[in-house]
Amino acid sequence: MLAKKMETALVHQVYEEMYSFYLYLAMAEHSVVEGMPGLRHWMQNQALEELSHAVKFMNYIAGKGGKVELKALQAPPKSWKSAKIIFEEALKHEQHITSCINNLVDTALSLKDHATANFLNWFVAEQVEEEANAQAIIDMIKLTGSAPGGMFIVDRELAARPAALNPLNPTPAA
Ligand code: FEO
Repeated sequence: MLAKKMETALVHQVYEEMYSFYLYLAMAEHSVVEGMPGLRHWMQNQALEELSHAVKFMNYIAGKGGKVELKALQAPPKSWKSAKIIFEEALKHEQHITSCINNLVDTALSLKDHATANFLNWFVAEQVEEEANAQAIIDMIKLTGSAPGGMFIVDRELAARPAALNPLNPTPAA
């Protein structure tokens, strides 16, 4: 069973992950303006990954006898000035999520809730990857984006992202 403080904090993280889902879907829609189908593909799959994060939290809370009441999501921004700005905003957002996860770990440890701290370790590692992915794309845009045809190459790289796993069952079959 979860301490009330831990449960409330984990339920809030479901909101954070669902907002991430919504934000990346909005960024995917902006690809229409940019004429970048690869950006759309990348962001839609990122959104599905965020949905899988929300489901992981929901399943953990349920497994510990807790309950999630879903809140209304804030509307994400509607437009960005460029693909580079989209990924800079994505990186900023992931840095925010990293601090949310770190705060959750701090709460778990302060409550001596080692099971939850152990559950959160997966997210600690995931956030390293999430920030690195966004930074790598920003670097790629800086390197190639201003060359003739550069954004076409960037978009082709974004299109090569493997499809996300089923968000309701994100663990690949053995
Ligand atoms: Fe669920 Fe991108 O962190």
